[in-house]
Amino acid sequence: MPHRGTSSLSKFDLTGKAALVTGGARGIGLQIALTLQEAGAEIILTDADGVSLADVADRFPVKPQVYQLDVTASQAIRDLAGKIGSCPDILVNNAGVSRAAPTSQTTDEDWRFVLSVNLDGVFYCSRTFGSLMAERGSGSIVNISSMCSEIVTRQEPSVVTAYNASKAGVNMVTKTLACEWARSGVRVNAVAPGFVASDMTHKLPQEQIKSWSEQTPMGRFAQPHEIASAVHFLASDASSYMTGAVLSVDGGFTCW
Ligand SMILES: NC(=O)c1ccc[n+]([C@@H]2O[C@H](COP(=O)([O-])OP(=O)(O)OC[C@H]3O[C@@H](n4cnc5c(N)ncnc54)[C@H](O)[C@@H]3O)[C@@H](O)[C@H]2O)c1
Repeated sequence: MPHRGTSSLSKFDLTGKAALVTGGARGIGLQIALTLQEAGAEIILTDADGVSLADVADRFPVKPQVYQLDVTASQAIRDLAGKIGSCPDILVNNAGVSRAAPTSQTTDEDWRFVLSVNLDGVFYCSRTFGSLMAERGSGSIVNISSMCSEIVTRQEPSVVTAYNASKAGVNMVTKTLACEWARSGVRVNAVAPGFVASDMTHKLPQEQIKSWSEQTPMGRFAQPHEIASAVHFLASDASSYMTGAVLSVDGGFTCW
């Protein structure tokens, strides 16, 4: 019999670990938090939208700790670390936004908004919690990137330069921090989803959803739980020799 801790399935067990998820009030972030709790983790659920956070806490079999947190506010992130008291074992940088417009109509504010949530937010949270993890000597950070970090989708009506640039930045933050903290026991990886059925995509015109589904080798959008499983893997000891990886979960989209 393999020892507990080295058997294949026990490596996925997150019992005794605390996981902080940003942007966890809905969509992919919410599903990630539910999945990590099912795997045994204690959940620290955060989101900028305090109202949705309060509503969603009841959906968890075990009530999570809930904190309103805007990931663009670096001091608020430091304050939260102080409030929590102990450093989480897992950080999932999931909060993200998109604004689509042709570049000529993209304002400075649009550009800053997307870059500040998607890229500054990942850096600020990683700086605060990852540094604490490195001091302690253990931790796993999972950043939610996108296939749009590496490829430009056929846009139909929308153009998302800021979004794509922000996610390319997330990949390099992931790889750079992975190297910086590799010998401190902290792993840093990213998941790069393809199209996922969530609030971010459900308002798209039906024609666009149909076209993007047809362009995906698997012929459909992902469900949030299919992204959450990959995050669970990267957060857990099952991926103990992985750091600096960007794991595609895109139904084959980037193969074509
Ligand atoms: N839906 C997709 O097709 C898709 C594809 C690839 C990657 N992603 C990425 O997955 C992540 C989650 O996306 P989703 O589809 O669940 O989006 P969503 O819009 O459904 O949820 C995003 C969550 O982030 C929160 N948020 C926004 N700004 C914030 C801020 N400044 N601070 C803290 N929280 C904030 C929102 O309140 C919301 O709860 C994002 O990083 C997104 O870029 C999504």
